[in-house]
Amino acid sequence: MQTLKVLLEANQHWAAARVAEDPEFFSRLANQQSPEYLWIGCSDSRVPANQITGLDPGEVFVHRNVANVVVETDFNLLSVLQFAVDVLKVKHVIVCGHYGCGGVKAALENQRHGIIDNWLRHIRNIARRSEDELSAMSHAQAVDRLCELNVIANAENVARTTVVEDAWERGQDLAIHSWIYRLDTGIISPLAHSVRGPQ
Ligand code: CO
Repeated sequence: MQTLKVLLEANQHWAAARVAEDPEFFSRLANQQSPEYLWIGCSDSRVPANQITGLDPGEVFVHRNVANVVVETDFNLLSVLQFAVDVLKVKHVIVCGHYGCGGVKAALENQRHGIIDNWLRHIRNIARRSEDELSAMSHAQAVDRLCELNVIANAENVARTTVVEDAWERGQDLAIHSWIYRLDTGIISPLAHSVRGPQ
């Protein structure tokens, strides 16, 4: 309990500091959120969307799962995406992976990890499509390249959801971005061109 007490105390200090800086901060946020960004990222504790992009509460809508996978049968992700696009009218969907991703690494190994292997199947399929490129690399290089390919493939998956196709059909302003974060520098690099219309 000692640890949790520390968290709650830290929270009180944080809230008090925000109010001291901007007395209306929380009352304004309590009434509405209007983020411009939807972040789809990895659950990894080292890649917190708000902190690494300098965004405040209310500025980014967030969905995270193991290895930032986008599958069109995932109702959790689709529900987040639909709310973000149709209701919040975000202007940007950012799929952000990270080098050294444990999920991607596990997908490249022939070991059983449990339930997660069914989830990692999606990444294994991406690896299979780029087998020639990946097999010519060292294991560490292949993991990092697969981290990139995984982000690009999942950004393409976002673009092919009915939610995004319908938004573009309506003429809604919506761009999809592929980013990757480097754990040992804290730096994000954009990967491919952003997608702003039907593929
Ligand atoms: Co990860």
